[in-house]
Amino acid sequence: MQTISRLDTLRVAVAALKNGGKPGNANADGPRTVALVPTMGALHDGHIALVRAAKARADHVVVSIFVNPLQFGPNEDLDAYPRQLEADARLLRAAGADLLWAPTVEQMYPAGFATTVSVGGLDAMLCGTARPGHFDGVATVVTKLFNQVQPDMAFFGEKDWQQLAIIRRCARDLDLAHPRAEAIIGVPTVREADGLAMSSRNKYLSADQRIAAGALNRGMAGAIDRIVRGEDAGPVLADLREQLRDAGFHKVDYADLRDAETLVELARHDVGRPARLLVAAHIGKARLLDNMAVEPVFTAQG
Ligand code: PAF
Repeated sequence: MQTISRLDTLRVAVAALKNGGKPGNANADGPRTVALVPTMGALHDGHIALVRAAKARADHVVVSIFVNPLQFGPNEDLDAYPRQLEADARLLRAAGADLLWAPTVEQMYPAGFATTVSVGGLDAMLCGTARPGHFDGVATVVTKLFNQVQPDMAFFGEKDWQQLAIIRRCARDLDLAHPRAEAIIGVPTVREADGLAMSSRNKYLSADQRIAAGALNRGMAGAIDRIVRGEDAGPVLADLREQLRDAGFHKVDYADLRDAETLVELARHDVGRPARLLVAAHIGKARLLDNMAVEPVFTAQG
């Protein structure tokens, strides 16, 4: 696996992957497919699941690692965000990635950089309210990554459901030819043994906070159970907020029932309309995100 931090070198290396290592367009079976897995590093099993999903669909996998300053607010954790390029590269090599694209900030945003991408509507709710400008930063860097790598498809975790919806909208609206919206593939959230969604920010939790954080997914599963049985979302979500506060979360930014695609808020579950329960809540120094499909959970007993 090659690690590349210059754009001109990246373009040559991606062209070689597409041509099966041959010069020009000399690959007899046509160009090979390339998948992109954008990340900010500090990789965990959730990221490795993205690489595996990408390997299952494409001939070659390019992973990007870039801690994107544009998506951090002034009082957020840009400086503290874990950076461990060597360790990440070892994990990616073991997972079978073909190329690691690790641009510098100067390479991504040269002096005078002045253009941003903004996905209206979807960015003005949920995390967009608590983190103004965050999704402009995400949409801008993801658009740049697509243009730089020119992948045939790209893989993102479902853990950040709003981000996934925004990236799909952006790819559709801007005719990002590679990849189109349908080539943006969401991969189910990977969870710890107690059900906590894996996140690079889980590193900020103390041992006690880590145990308490397990209340998030348990509370969400309980709320979904009540909502699919027909209870109105309002009182169920009020109970969920209270449970989270009792467990040690000091602030709940949102705990909402939303349409899975448009993210419009829903008052109750409507069979046949895909919905998600989305939560963002603070514990210790971490702001944890989670979301789950709102559908009946079938156990082995039925
Ligand atoms: O989900 C992330 O890790 C980031 O938001 C992304 C998509 C890599 C853009 O910086």
